[in-house]
Amino acid sequence: MKPLMVLAPLLLCCSVVLPLPPPGRIVNCDDAEAHEAANAAIQHINDRHNTGYKFTLNRVEKVKVRPTASGEMIFLELDLLETKCPSISPTPLLHCVVRPVTEQAVEGDCDVKLHKENGTYNMIGTWCKSELDSAENMRKVCPDCPNLAPLNDTQVVHAVDVSLHKINVGNVGNNSTFYLLHEIGRGRIQSGISNSVHVEFVIAASNCTIDEANSGTAACVEKTGAGAHFAACSGSVVKHPGAVDEEVEAQCTVYKNLVGEVVETGAPQVPLAPPKTNVLHFHHNLHHPSMGPHSSESNSAEHYHAAKAGHVFKRSPTGNPVPPSVQSLPLCPGKKIHF
Ligand SMILES: *[C@@H]1O[C@H](CO)[C@@H](O)[C@H](O)[C@H]1NC(C)=O
Ligand SMILES: *[C@@H]1O[C@H](CO)[C@@H](O)[C@H](O)[C@H]1NC(C)=O
Ligand SMILES: *[C@@H]1O[C@H](CO)[C@@H](O)[C@H](O)[C@H]1NC(C)=O
Ligand SMILES: *[C@@H]1O[C@H](CO)[C@@H](O)[C@H](O)[C@H]1NC(C)=O
Repeated sequence: MKPLMVLAPLLLCCSVVLPLPPPGRIVNCDDAEAHEAANAAIQHINDRHNTGYKFTLNRVEKVKVRPTASGEMIFLELDLLETKCPSISPTPLLHCVVRPVTEQAVEGDCDVKLHKENGTYNMIGTWCKSELDSAENMRKVCPDCPNLAPLNDTQVVHAVDVSLHKINVGNVGNNSTFYLLHEIGRGRIQSGISNSVHVEFVIAASNCTIDEANSGTAACVEKTGAGAHFAACSGSVVKHPGAVDEEVEAQCTVYKNLVGEVVETGAPQVPLAPPKTNVLHFHHNLHHPSMGPHSSESNSAEHYHAAKAGHVFKRSPTGNPVPPSVQSLPLCPGKKIHF
């Protein structure tokens, strides 16, 4: 009888002081399975983000795993970084270089909810936003690096125009394809003694040859189906003081006949958020809430609550409650992979 008397006040104390144990398994942010789930989510995000550049994982910030009737629900908070691979590029993410701080990096934040069953991930929802790293951060490592300019800046638009013209003029040959601008990706302006504008953009093969386009009578549109393809280009336009003409340099990487892979079959194209008025766009926002085909919010909520309710204090063989282990908090956030 005596031990019970001691135990009672102890329980009272501890049931107040101890935090509720998190229900479900503990997974740390840098555990292989957290990264596996994060990479599955990022592939999904990139597949549905069809403007700008692909994003890659920088850090798993939080991870929660909850049991469901048929598997597990995984909740992730991810820090992403923009790569140099355009969204339309067929290059696997593994081979995409992260945009360095010296080019003014773009960071993405995503909340992700996915269901894992038999080793297969089903996306339930993703909520992402992205923002440009500050010019101050860039200056710390590169005092002379030029800022990113708005995508609709007149100098940026002009540099893209003359670069594309140079590409089309240089594209000689009999049935040469006439290329159209698909999207401006980035633009940077360095003003000083010379004014130089550096741009990155994506072009698309049109349904016209150069000759047809030059005749001025044909209507040229982006080619679809067989022969449709994109190219990622960069251009720089420099105006030296006193010079009459600008110096134009442009080069492209052509992604041949890979449109079928880029335009995902069956994947719903998520409309991007309409641009806010009076907001200058320096980069292509990664803003897309998306609900997957299994957006069974009510179901998952039930599972979630069921899991919570089911997780009462365990009973020891003697019938006394066992307090939760102190070690039951996940090690988070994970390490930054890049910067
Ligand atoms: C998972 O495996 C179980 C048992 O093999 C099966 O009954 C179930 O249909 C599978 N679920 C999915 C989504 O494949
Ligand atoms: C254009 O086509 C003709 C006939 O097929 C060929 O002789 C000629 O070399 C081609 N010219 C170019 C620039 O490819
Ligand atoms: C390209 O496609 C447009 C729209 O379908 C059409 O009007 C135009 O004639 C086509 N151009 C050529 C050269 O076939
Ligand atoms: C660029 O876009 C902003 C916001 O929509 C607008 O206020 C500005 O006038 C545009 N600039 C040019 C050069 O079109």
